[in-house]
Amino acid sequence: MLELLQDMSLEEKIYQLVQMPGECFEQGILTGPAAEMGIPQEKIYQAGSCLTVIGAKTLREIQDKAMAAQPHHIPMLFMCDIINGYRTVYPVPLAQGCTFDPDLVRDCAKMAAAESAASGVHVTFSPMADLVRDARWGRVMESTGEDPYLNGLMAKAMVEGYQGDDLQEKGRIAACVKHFAGYGAPTAGRDYNTVELSERTLYEDYLPAYKAALDAKCALVMTSFNTLNRIPSSGNKALMRDLLRDEWGFDGVVISDWAAIYEMLPHGIAANGEEAARLAIEAGVDIDMVTSIYSKNLYELAADGRIPMALVDEAVLRVLELKNKLGLFEHPYKDASEDDENALLLCDAHRAVAGQCASESFVLLKNDEGILPLSREKKIALIGPYVNSRLITGSWSFFSKDEDNRTIHEVLQEQYGDCFATATGCELLEAGRKLTGFSMDYLNEETEEEAKEKLDKAVALAREAEVVVLFLGEPKDFTGEGASRADITIPALQKNLLRSVAAVNPNVVTVLFNGRPLDLREESALSKAILDVWFPGTEGARAILDMLFGVTAPSGKLSMSFPFCVGQVPVFYNEFSTGRPFFGDYREGRFFSKYIDIPNEPLYPFGYGLTYTSFSYSDVTVSKPVLSIAGEDSLTATVTLTNTGSREGTEVVQLYIRDLAGSVVRPVRELKDFTRVTLAAGEARDVTFTITPSMLQFYDIDMEFTAEPGEFMLFVGGDSRTQNAAAFTLVV
Ligand code: GLC
Repeated sequence: MLELLQDMSLEEKIYQLVQMPGECFEQGILTGPAAEMGIPQEKIYQAGSCLTVIGAKTLREIQDKAMAAQPHHIPMLFMCDIINGYRTVYPVPLAQGCTFDPDLVRDCAKMAAAESAASGVHVTFSPMADLVRDARWGRVMESTGEDPYLNGLMAKAMVEGYQGDDLQEKGRIAACVKHFAGYGAPTAGRDYNTVELSERTLYEDYLPAYKAALDAKCALVMTSFNTLNRIPSSGNKALMRDLLRDEWGFDGVVISDWAAIYEMLPHGIAANGEEAARLAIEAGVDIDMVTSIYSKNLYELAADGRIPMALVDEAVLRVLELKNKLGLFEHPYKDASEDDENALLLCDAHRAVAGQCASESFVLLKNDEGILPLSREKKIALIGPYVNSRLITGSWSFFSKDEDNRTIHEVLQEQYGDCFATATGCELLEAGRKLTGFSMDYLNEETEEEAKEKLDKAVALAREAEVVVLFLGEPKDFTGEGASRADITIPALQKNLLRSVAAVNPNVVTVLFNGRPLDLREESALSKAILDVWFPGTEGARAILDMLFGVTAPSGKLSMSFPFCVGQVPVFYNEFSTGRPFFGDYREGRFFSKYIDIPNEPLYPFGYGLTYTSFSYSDVTVSKPVLSIAGEDSLTATVTLTNTGSREGTEVVQLYIRDLAGSVVRPVRELKDFTRVTLAAGEARDVTFTITPSMLQFYDIDMEFTAEPGEFMLFVGGDSRTQNAAAFTLVV
């Protein structure tokens, strides 16, 4: 590649660092605010890459034009947001986190790679490894949750699924971990807002998942929109060079987020395009996504020596090397094949994995009186705006088609005939409320009379039924990019339907479609059961009905806490004790770290989820009370898990550890391991975890990553509130 680089003109080099927006080419899809790039039309094929254009035929044609236009016939890179599937859509990543099943998540990524590679895609802007703690932020939907350890396992699994061991292998695409770094902690949960994190919190909580992706050989990194330390990531040398490249040794391609290099102007850190270009290239940002900051400024900066030519050369070399790793110089179309598209997109094998992942991602939050699973003998009414909706795939699924998604009503008729009555009951959103987003334009134009008629029909149905299943939730574009909410409840129209139905029938089961944790106090008060199905993807409807009728059973566990209300946000399980911890009734006591009007605890905590059976845990025991830092020492923690219910079930057994006193304060507990255990009714099994000193390492008072001797507690149970504990001591 060095030889090629040396033979390239400066202009040719710079265009390798330019990414064109897809809409410059046919079939392009806009995934951000369109910026007038001012790049002459004849130059667009000089660009090193483009994004969000798909289709084997289209991309082969674009590649032909690009290579013809390129002085050295360098192939173009095609990049897309394959976030939770391509044409076959899997559950949104926050739901995939609830599976606690990295192997399954790896399979989903592998199949998404196979489909998109057949359509000519080379790179996906995934995994999104941003840790999230604020349900107001719309992009929590794209994360796998609030825990560094779980997020790291999921990010690693996704990279392995997309990339395999060899990017040139058929059906593999390069992964791009994002958004580096700390994008998931915007002040007030408002997208693109300032991020203020201590260095220790950044290292301890927010960086591990990015690092796990890079340790899995993730090929690219994407900068984040936010500032850290009051410096936008795309111009943050401490972050992008000192840490990412020098300390972590990342030598792959760094791409800016959408127009993020240009956005250093509105951020107020660059007075003009030239300064933005210099800051970015000095920070080691290789590709300028969809602006002309690099194409309009790098030439003069480099030509008159205001930036070292070496900075341009190293960036171009990384882009060329990525193309070479993908085998594009020998096979510029890579896997683009219309025959493979026809064979792979929405194929049965991918649908089967999509259905399994949907099932494993569902979280049963409540099930009073064992109202679920439903008996087919009962008189059941299925009501709600999601009974007939196909919009169940999440906001980053625009490569799929809504008509691919069967509705609850369609699957009900296929599987169960017409034995159950259905009604919409209300629209997703209030009349006149328009919602435009990435992937849905929605406007409820019904009249008041029509709305009343819908509601009256539903209430009449509910009155006659033995059980009512309500299918409610956020519209899918209420989460995703640019979708922060200050009110994290379901739309008022749907709340009204819930109240109206519950007023005439106490046997309400709520099935919830959502991309973020919601304030579910009222749903919890008025429903005997709540099954959270998130945005379950292509096979969601079938998976939901199979679970409601007991063909499958829930095993999902929350990857993110559900707050008692938005006033509690950010709320997360791995918090610190404070000097005045509080455990009582919030209506009593004062001068403790508490509210006087709501409890401290979330409504549903991280790691929580019910099943259709029940499990008991024996007291946890440790193999020995002392663990030594020296040598390869370890100890084990064991529980006997028993399925005390009447049907097979799967439990995610979780291990948490607390360091009781460190040179800095330590979380009240941290997830350190988990395992999915399936037991038949009545079956018991020992579950053993191994604890080693390396699991106890943290950034100490000197920011050294180390384990400190002292007293520890470990907890083993079915969610982050378990009190099934044992003590041990770590010694030098
Ligand atoms: C968007 C998102 C990023 C996405 C990129 C390309 O603005 O922030 O996650 O990968 O642009 O679509």
